[in-house]
Amino acid sequence: MRTRAAVAVQAGKPLEIMEVNLDGPKAGEVMVEIKATGICHTDEFTLSGADPEGMFPAILGHEGAGVVVEVGPGVTSVKPGDHVIPLYTPECRECPSCLSRKTNLCTAIRGTQGKGLMPDGTSRFSTLDGDPILHYMGCSTFSNFTVLPEIAVAKVREDAPFDKICYIGCGVTTGVGAVINTAKVEIGAKAVVFGLGGIGLNVIQGLRLAGADMIIGVDINNDKKAWGERFGMTHFVNPKEIGTDLVPYLVNLTKTPFDQIGGADYSFDCTGNVTVMRQALECTHRGWGQSIVIGVAPAGAEIQTRPFQLVTGRVWKGTAFGGARGRTDVPKIVDWYMEGKIEIDPMITHLLRLEDINKGFDLMHRGESIRSVVLY
Ligand SMILES: NC(=O)c1ccc[n+]([C@@H]2O[C@H](COP(=O)([O-])OP(=O)(O)OC[C@H]3O[C@@H](n4cnc5c(N)ncnc54)[C@H](O)[C@@H]3O)[C@@H](O)[C@H]2O)c1
Ligand SMILES: [Zn+2]
Ligand SMILES: [Zn+2]
Repeated sequence: MRTRAAVAVQAGKPLEIMEVNLDGPKAGEVMVEIKATGICHTDEFTLSGADPEGMFPAILGHEGAGVVVEVGPGVTSVKPGDHVIPLYTPECRECPSCLSRKTNLCTAIRGTQGKGLMPDGTSRFSTLDGDPILHYMGCSTFSNFTVLPEIAVAKVREDAPFDKICYIGCGVTTGVGAVINTAKVEIGAKAVVFGLGGIGLNVIQGLRLAGADMIIGVDINNDKKAWGERFGMTHFVNPKEIGTDLVPYLVNLTKTPFDQIGGADYSFDCTGNVTVMRQALECTHRGWGQSIVIGVAPAGAEIQTRPFQLVTGRVWKGTAFGGARGRTDVPKIVDWYMEGKIEIDPMITHLLRLEDINKGFDLMHRGESIRSVVLY
């Protein structure tokens, strides 16, 4: 069939809207009509050319929601008409990683997904001239119709609006999941969140959901203060305006009359800046503080600290897709949204048509959007 897509033809160039060919689903695959897709920082990372693993031409996009229209042979867990969210971290429930119960990083299709191909080593997308176009993160939600492995779709309830729950395909789950699954934050905790963008604000609402007492937001953009407060932030710090070093400032803020050591129980990097990652580790509490790296750093960047920071009990951890097992956890997060436990609507600041998708990248560059969503 033919479908309309925004194609990343080359690194550093705007996406091109065009008709492309899409082959039907093969064994173990499903075809999905994408109804809405968010534009995430990671799409921009790849499009810009900064991603060392980026390949072109490709159809980007990994934060979608839609309806199954066709299933290939052997597919049993979904059927045409089912509402689904594509998963860039699949869940096969059979590989050593899934069976370990210690990680969400399913390895069943990792090799081909990283090469922009379906599990049989071919692409379903091609230009009208017949040249192959690569998939992206196994999702390619910047196409109106796409094909995905069955293990890479989460079936969700049908009364949930596509233009909101698409955000659960990456940003919401990453932020909320980092708090619930990776850090396992407890009631009464003190936390610091670095970077109040589309991910950091979801960390903040995850901390509110978990019952944290003190939620300190750190951002170099003062416009983010109101945004953080909207979702439960209790204190805002702009490192450029405090006139002193950030780490001791944050440690002081968390001291109590009883605990004069100070430090956060948990911190989260949502910037991708390795200097910030160090600050995030070092502002946590001696003996038990945990710092969670969510941000994706530039190619070749390395993190630094003195080993003494770890010897004295601080823990550095990372998280991908918020530690969520997609097919199991994503439907639950959709329920939390529908039940009002988490918010999504105010974070979706811009709605765009596919023709205007490049405007979404411009809004991101200017720091004007939290999330732009494309409606098909
Ligand atoms: N681990 C994962 O699974 C995963 C998933 C999605 C995104 N990410 C990554 O998370 C990061 C954040 O994504 P986003 O969409 O929220 O980005 P964003 O651009 O919307 O937000 C980043 C925020 O950080 C602030 N910031 C920048 N430098 C800072 C500094 N030195 N100190 C304090 N604040 C600073 C910016 O002002 C901005 O508000 C990116 O690196 C992205 O690639 C990771
Ligand atoms: Zn993303
Ligand atoms: Zn698996």
